[in-house]
Formats: sequence, structure tokens, C-alpha cells
Amino acid sequence: MPKTFFITTAIDYTNSPPHIGHAYEKVLADVIARYHRLKGEEVFFLTGVDQHGQKVQQSAAKAGIPPAEFVKVITQKFVDLWKKLHVQYDGWAETTSDRHKKVVQGILQRLFDAGQIYKDKQAGYYSVRQEQFLTDKERGADGQFGAEWGEVEFREEENYYFRLSRHKEWLLSYLDDRKDAVIPDFRQTELRNAVARLSGDLCISRPKSRLNWGIELPFDKEFVTYVWFDALTNYISFAGYDPSLSAFNSQPSTFRDKWPALQIIGKDILVPAHGIYWLVMLHAIGFTDDQMPQLLVHGWWNLGGAKMSKSAGNVIDPFVLADKYGAEALRYYLMSDIALGKDADFSEERLVESYNANLANNLGNLLNRTLNMVQRYCVGSLRKPRESSKLPADVIDGYRQLVNEYTAATVSIYPDVVIGRSLYLASVFNGFIEAQSPWTLAKSSKPEDREFLEDLLYDCAESLRIIAILISPVLPKAAHGIFDQLNWKIELSGREERFSLADAEWGKLADEHIVGKPVPLFPRIQE
Ligand code: MSP
Repeated sequence: MPKTFFITTAIDYTNSPPHIGHAYEKVLADVIARYHRLKGEEVFFLTGVDQHGQKVQQSAAKAGIPPAEFVKVITQKFVDLWKKLHVQYDGWAETTSDRHKKVVQGILQRLFDAGQIYKDKQAGYYSVRQEQFLTDKERGADGQFGAEWGEVEFREEENYYFRLSRHKEWLLSYLDDRKDAVIPDFRQTELRNAVARLSGDLCISRPKSRLNWGIELPFDKEFVTYVWFDALTNYISFAGYDPSLSAFNSQPSTFRDKWPALQIIGKDILVPAHGIYWLVMLHAIGFTDDQMPQLLVHGWWNLGGAKMSKSAGNVIDPFVLADKYGAEALRYYLMSDIALGKDADFSEERLVESYNANLANNLGNLLNRTLNMVQRYCVGSLRKPRESSKLPADVIDGYRQLVNEYTAATVSIYPDVVIGRSLYLASVFNGFIEAQSPWTLAKSSKPEDREFLEDLLYDCAESLRIIAILISPVLPKAAHGIFDQLNWKIELSGREERFSLADAEWGKLADEHIVGKPVPLFPRIQE
């Protein structure tokens, strides 16, 4: 039974609307999901929203509406954005749903019964205004807590704790044994170092007097669970996990067929959330080492070298960009101008420049001029080269190599690399057209010139067909546009099944294939 490729992203906080960072992560996951479908694999892509917690409770109070209503409005904005950006997920996680609450409570009860959760007292300085305990990190240079914390008092509070430290040795040995637990490598090293420094257990509750917008502890109605058991559990609760069954092998097959997942997260939530709390939680509820998820950690988009933040007022709104330039232009920019795992600086200027240079002038131009010439010189009909293609060997090798890499990559393609190389192939063909000057060949009466012209146009059309397949994870709409104009697989127009890596083989367009009329695919953006 083939496994389903299961991919998840972080679920997004619903205390404020989505920004470009959220869009990046979801488009990245969408691209990887589409890439696996292209290989013919079954895919389950789960994403969603993180609806509980202090931040939401505070934002809702500020807006003067109940938290349940507040999260509905923000959740809708995320749903709208994913639709707009063609992010196509198979599962949707909302942490206020009943199914999720049951799984979270079931897990907490099991861990409580097994002695992995205990009650303890905490004493310390507490900011009444910010509703949180303060540590020495919050003290200013003068050793005092600043005015932003308002009234600070000494408090004692009881809470529940998860025995995190019990699992430290296990986590170290797991990370030492599995070299690709975290991608890229330097993030695994960062995590390993953080685990080595780990001490103490994890506070997992808040008294209801402080926070009531959360999931109640099943063993103490005066408390809700705070953040991590609520948020992280989404990855299994929406994949069919049954908390009443402790052995992984007795879990429903719907869950076992999917798990473990490839989990895409930003660099800020590797340590400690996913790399420590989540892996330990899974271990504590009985998951073995080979059932641990793999963590793909991406970098952040900054603005002018600085972090984007709502308080600094420098967040980029993805709705505005998608309306202005179109979803495909934004997807292309987000995938091509950042190296997977690294940070990058967001630049609207570069978005426009790169779209115009690589999509409008390069790929769009190749499609337009190829179809124009096939219409003009060959009444719309392609002629398959009689001998094997006369293309230079290195060009054919270039395609083969790229297609082979797509096939071989087990986890993820690197979108910036493959989109760049696919578009490079388009520029090679534009170069052929310039060098061979088909408009001159068309005027010649020599049969060998005619043959050369027909071969060239066939090769250009064929290159477009293959490029469309290769770019389809990043630019699905453009890939459909190319197929439509080539008049290829019309019966599957608009459907994702239209693209398959198995078709990315040179020479599939038949002799006398009739192509469509050219329509500008990437109209130039006027600056
Ligand atoms: N709700 C938590 C995660 C819980 S996962 C069980 C959370 N939410 S978040 O809305 O703050 O962030 C969601 C994702 O967006 C994270 O993976 C985060 O790294 C990513 N990004 C937030 N800002 C970003 C950028 N500026 N650039 C790229 N990704 C960024 O954390």
C-alpha cells in the first residue's frame, strides 16, 4: 500500500490578519504538495489556524467582541488568501473544533494518568497589564521592569507541568541517530545545541481566572491548556489520530497511511516548540523514532534588513500585492527570490523586475513567438522531426537532468533552484530562435531550410510543453495557459492531473499536431 505524502505547515495565529510571511510558508507547502502530485503520489496537505490563547483573547477584548466571533473574521481572511493564491490544501485545522478538543483532552488525560503531567506552584513577578509572569530577561538596564509592564506584583500560582526533562536523553540520541530530522543541516545543529542546554519541565496550563479562551484540562476544570498541547496537536488530530489508542499500530489506517509528516515551519518555531516540545510530546504518547516527523525549516522575509512587525507598521499585505500583480506573479516572486532555509529581503521593485525579465520577456515571449511562427509559417501544424532531434546534445541533457532531479528528490524540490533552471531552458530556446532566424529560413526556397525551420519550431513547442510541466508546482495557472495554447491535454484543462512528470519526455507532441493561437501569458507590468 503506497504511503500518502503528508505535508503540514504551522497553523497561523488568528490575532491579526495574514501577512507576506504567512503567504510564503503556505505557497511553499503548496508547491511541495503539487510537486509530489506531479510525481503521481497521493498527497495530504494540512494547514489551518491557531484560534485559542492570550493574544486572541486580548485582541478580541480590544475589538469589543467575543473571541469566537473575532477568530471567525480573521480565519475567513486566511481562507480567502489561500484561495486567492491557489493554495490547495486537503485538510483544514481549526483548533476550536470539537474533534480537535477531544484529541487534545484525550492526550492530556493519558499523560496525566501515566504521571507525565503534575501540578506545581510557581512564584515570581507578574505584570497585571500584560497578564504574564516576568523573568530577568524583561528587566531593563537599571534592573527594573519598565513602564510597559504596568503594575508588577509578586504572585504565587499553581499550574500543571509536563515532564519534559525526562525525555531529554531520548531526544539527544534521536537527533544523533537521524541526520535528516531537521532540514537544513545547520538548523539540526542549532536544535541539538538547544536540547543539550535544556533543563526543567514545561508549564502547560493557565488558571481560567487569567485565560479562559482555551481547551479545558480534562482532569481540572479550573484550568485551560496553554499553547503547545493545543496548537501542536493539530498535526495529528486533523489527520485521524485516535487518542484512546496508545499503540501506534492500532491507530486507524487513515492515520497510519499518512504519518509521519513533512512539517514546514519558520525558523522562529523550531526551538523550542517543534524541535523540543512537539517531538517529546509524540515520544511521550508512544511514537517511535521512525514515526517522528521531519522538520523543514524556512527562513524569514524581512523588510530593509529589519523584521516585519505589526507594531513597527512595516508588514506587507499579500492581498494588496496579489490584487496589483496577480497571484502567479506573487507566487513566482516568493519562490524565486529566497533560498530555501535562508532569510531574504522583500522588494516590490524586484518583484516587478524579475517578473518582467523572466516571465514576460523570457517564457511569455518564447510561447508567443513560437505559436505566432507556427501559425504564420506552418498553418498552425507542427511537424515532428524525421530524424531524432537536431538539438545540441547538451540541451537535451539539460532537460533530462532536470527531469531526473525532479524524479529523484525525495522530500522537496528547492523551488528557487528549479524555477530558475526551468526558465533558463526557455532562454536557451529564445537564444536558438535569435541565432537561427526562422523569419529568414521561412523566406528561403531550399527544402533543407524548410526542414530546419520546422524542426526548430517543433523543438520550441516541445520545450514549452516540458517547461510547463516543470513550472506547474510554482505557476499552475501559467502552466495551464501554456498547455491550453499548445492545445495539449485539453480534456484536462484546469485540472491538476493534467500535469505529470511522466509526460516530461522529449517528443510527445505528435506529427501534425495543431497548436492554438497565442494569447499573452504574462503581460508586462508597467512600472
Ligand atoms: N501559531 C503559531 C504556530 C503554531 S504551530 C503548531 C505561530 N503562528 S504565526 O502566525 O506567528 O506564524 C505562522 C508561520 O508563519 C510560522 O511558521 C512563522 O515562522 C511564519 N512567519 C511569520 N512571519 C514570517 C516572515 N516574516 N517570513 C516568513 N515566515 C514567517 O507561530
